[in-house]
Amino acid sequence: MADARSIRQQNQRSWDAVVPAHASHHRDVPTFVRAGGSSLFPEERALLGDVQGCSLIHLMCNTGLDTLSLANHGAVVTGVDISTAAVTQAQQWASDSGVQATFIQADIYDYLAETRDTYDRVYASYGTICWLNDLHAWANGIARILAPNGRFVLVEFHPTSNMFDAQWQLARAYPMGGRQLDIEGVGDYVAASGGGLTPTGFAAGVHDFVNPEPCHLFQWGVGEVVTALASAGLRITRLDEYLFCNGERPFADMVELPGRRMVAPPHVPDIPLLYGVVATKE
Ligand SMILES: C[S@@+](CC[C@H](N)C(=O)[O-])C[C@H]1O[C@@H](n2cnc3c(N)ncnc32)[C@H](O)[C@@H]1O
Repeated sequence: MADARSIRQQNQRSWDAVVPAHASHHRDVPTFVRAGGSSLFPEERALLGDVQGCSLIHLMCNTGLDTLSLANHGAVVTGVDISTAAVTQAQQWASDSGVQATFIQADIYDYLAETRDTYDRVYASYGTICWLNDLHAWANGIARILAPNGRFVLVEFHPTSNMFDAQWQLARAYPMGGRQLDIEGVGDYVAASGGGLTPTGFAAGVHDFVNPEPCHLFQWGVGEVVTALASAGLRITRLDEYLFCNGERPFADMVELPGRRMVAPPHVPDIPLLYGVVATKE
């Protein structure tokens, strides 16, 4: 049985392998960012509030399009991610767009334990919780790097949606307890989103990507995430559930609404597809 650090290093290899494929589907990010564009959805914007002049760290920022968008909303931004390929791409997009941002390559657990910096906003979104083997270390680290009166915002895929297969059939138990899930590797979900994840425009890019590097996920319920944050001394001020997905189309026949918002087709009863948390440090 591999230790947690080796597992996270293997996950890094899986991300490093897929990042070029994902990046190949985004059209001209620098022009979009230079023109003041934003890839953020209304949900995270509402939970983050006005970020003008705030110091903000984007945890597990991937290739940094959301991070650069947050800079366009007026924040002084830092992004951190374990993937060297993702951070290199983020730095390239920042430099080509002329938007000020700092990107750091680090395992989130090392960064949260070691940094001396503090932030007015700490932000994580859309596919971060499943990479965490230890929720309490994560939440304690967030509490540590939040400035007084600082705010942590999480927008995540709802674990209830993981209980269903692509045809909306109940197929799996509710994810809980940090149970490990071994999969073939991070796939090219940007291509599969059919434009939902490429606000700058979709480019055909890499075809039929197959990831040679397997990866290992951890399954957590909403209650476990919120309890970890509360146990770290943060005050939970919001827990929102959303009956739609932003950007991605995880299920068959999803209906696309304006703003890259995907909902269940009329014959499928609604289930929560996303949730959002705000936790503050007093
Ligand atoms: C689904 S992406 C997050 C997408 C992100 N919301 C965005 O703006 O594109 C998950 C990210 O988590 C990163 N990651 C996974 N494990 C990590 C770890 N232990 N420390 C830091 N980053 C990690 C991956 O490299 C990947 O970029």
